[in-house]
Amino acid sequence: MIFTREALKHSQFEANKAKLPFKNLFILLIIISLIAFFSSFMSFIELTPSLNIIKSNPKPYYTPIKEEKFFTYLPHSQFHNQLIELKNAIVLSYLTNRTLIIPPILHSPSSELAVPYQPLHELYYNLTFIETIKKNRSLCKINHSRKRYCSSEFSEYDSFIMINWEEIFDFSWIKNQIKIINRNDFSMVDLYKICNIPIKLNNNTLEDLLQDNKNVYVIINNHKYHYRFFDTDDTYTNDTSNKYETPYLISDLRKREEKLIFIDTLFGNGRIDYKDERIIEWKSNMHRSLKISHPILLDVSNNIVNELGGFGNYLGVHVRTADGSFKDNLENIIDNVIEQLKNYTQTNSKTDDKSDSINENISLNNCKLKNEQIIFIATDALEPRKKLSKIFSTFPCVFTIGDFKNFIDPLRNITYTSDKNVKMLNFFYPLLDLLIISNGMDVVVTHSSTFSGFAKYYHQILAFERDTLGF
Ligand SMILES: *[C@@H]1O[C@H](CO)[C@@H](O)[C@H](O)[C@H]1NC(C)=O
Ligand SMILES: *[C@@H]1O[C@H](CO)[C@@H](O)[C@H](O)[C@H]1NC(C)=O
Ligand SMILES: *[C@@H]1O[C@H](CO)[C@@H](O)[C@H](O)[C@H]1NC(C)=O
Ligand SMILES: *[C@@H]1O[C@H](CO)[C@@H](O)[C@H](O)[C@H]1NC(C)=O
Ligand SMILES: *[C@@H]1O[C@H](CO)[C@@H](O)[C@H](O)[C@H]1NC(C)=O
Ligand SMILES: *[C@@H]1O[C@H](CO)[C@@H](O)[C@H](O)[C@H]1NC(C)=O
Ligand SMILES: *[C@@H]1O[C@H](CO)[C@@H](O)[C@H](O)[C@H]1NC(C)=O
Ligand SMILES: *[C@@H]1O[C@H](CO)[C@@H](O)[C@H](O)[C@H]1NC(C)=O
Ligand SMILES: *[C@@H]1O[C@H](CO)[C@@H](O)[C@H](O)[C@H]1NC(C)=O
Repeated sequence: MIFTREALKHSQFEANKAKLPFKNLFILLIIISLIAFFSSFMSFIELTPSLNIIKSNPKPYYTPIKEEKFFTYLPHSQFHNQLIELKNAIVLSYLTNRTLIIPPILHSPSSELAVPYQPLHELYYNLTFIETIKKNRSLCKINHSRKRYCSSEFSEYDSFIMINWEEIFDFSWIKNQIKIINRNDFSMVDLYKICNIPIKLNNNTLEDLLQDNKNVYVIINNHKYHYRFFDTDDTYTNDTSNKYETPYLISDLRKREEKLIFIDTLFGNGRIDYKDERIIEWKSNMHRSLKISHPILLDVSNNIVNELGGFGNYLGVHVRTADGSFKDNLENIIDNVIEQLKNYTQTNSKTDDKSDSINENISLNNCKLKNEQIIFIATDALEPRKKLSKIFSTFPCVFTIGDFKNFIDPLRNITYTSDKNVKMLNFFYPLLDLLIISNGMDVVVTHSSTFSGFAKYYHQILAFERDTLGF
């Protein structure tokens, strides 16, 4: 088996950063990145003090709404941003007592098939366009002759995959709180069918389906940071990192009578402003419950974690290298990571007896025998030992997923449920890296990377669980 890695794979977890072509916007970009970093950092801090044991099935405490009503949104951008949207949608569904219709995870290694945030109509047509070609191509084998999308011109679309969230994450706690329905397409007509909303048959454009429809309440954000939802009637916020423009009371959302609330985007960690302590606690419990649950992925990661010395016995690091400001800033990122790492490693361990062994690989077993600090790096670098050589030459016992090729075998042959022709391995890599570093004693981060932020948060969840449940 040849071990290949997909370039930019971690970037698929990252915020979709606008490509600003002009140098004079560079400072703006830095400011935006800083704000993004601090806002994700703030939300991480805010969760920490309210860590509590997950309670079994607390009942929603809001008054009931009669008849089943639905809530849904459109996914966009990369994995981690889709996860943020999902979490916000779960909160809003719970607070409005609506069944949440969950769109699938969108995944494609091709940047051309990335679906960035766009206004409602563009986003909808992008999603349905890709889906249409993908589905047409899946029929090409059956009847090649008449399908216009069967030529190799469209072969890129084969890499576009939709994955049911429940295949990867544990929804058992959430399903005790709200009703969820997974969907695997974006057609508005199919959405109406799920919600039992009548469809006018003559014209099925989005405009027509939404126009004068008493069953559907559409919330259109005029831009990515338009509406911010508030869980109390107090819309005051001294959150200086708040990017959102217009307050929207969740209590107003609850009053909507329409069968379906359809919102274009729920992007962003700051999308919901929390002031109600009960809701903050519920949200923390929900976030903690939403853990990776894919059994084979967990098996593989546990085996690697054990090989590294077990939970909390090695140090996890994330170094993002491959794109955007991270690529340009790589030297600084590496130096910063090394500074952070020095805080964890005994300064004497390297300098005295092993000065000649610097620049040499020490086997994991020897690292354990010599009681060296073991470091595991999650990275999108294709050749970590070259690209991150400064880290490898500063610390003797540094490893990456490439050092555990045999452990990964059980994941190699898994194919997507929705497309048996495509292997899932490239989708698994970043999740595997995430699981490994978050099982360490701590996570050393690349600043302003959302992947780093999520790994650090995931580490807190795992550590908290071990403390309270006494593993
Ligand atoms: C929530 O909505 C359902 C209908 O979908 C209704 O039967 C139920 O009573 C409501 N429950 C609460 C707690 O609001
Ligand atoms: C998505 O829409 C944008 C413009 O709205 C377009 O430039 C892009 O090519 C579309 N992508 C796909 C895959 O349809
Ligand atoms: C194939 O593409 C056409 C539009 O070109 C679309 O009407 C049709 O629904 C697609 N088929 C499938 C199975 O998606
Ligand atoms: C494939 O398409 C051709 C041309 O439209 C048609 O004659 C034929 O019956 C189709 N075959 C199948 C198996 O659908
Ligand atoms: C479909 O409906 C929309 C909105 O009502 C209208 O603008 C459009 O012209 C209609 N298209 C067709 C093909 O009838
Ligand atoms: C907002 O300001 C008040 C008083 O100035 C302060 O107590 C509170 O901690 C601040 N909240 C945040 C989120 O900064
Ligand atoms: C190292 O630890 C010290 C003391 O805890 C802290 O002040 C410093 O910021 C840390 N350095 C880095 C790079 O994390
Ligand atoms: C460390 O091991 C790797 C893989 O076995 C090898 O490619 C690399 O050259 C080694 N590096 C050094 C400095 O020995
Ligand atoms: C994966 O599939 C190949 C053939 O496609 C097979 O030779 C190999 O044994 C399989 N590996 C595992 C771990 O199942």
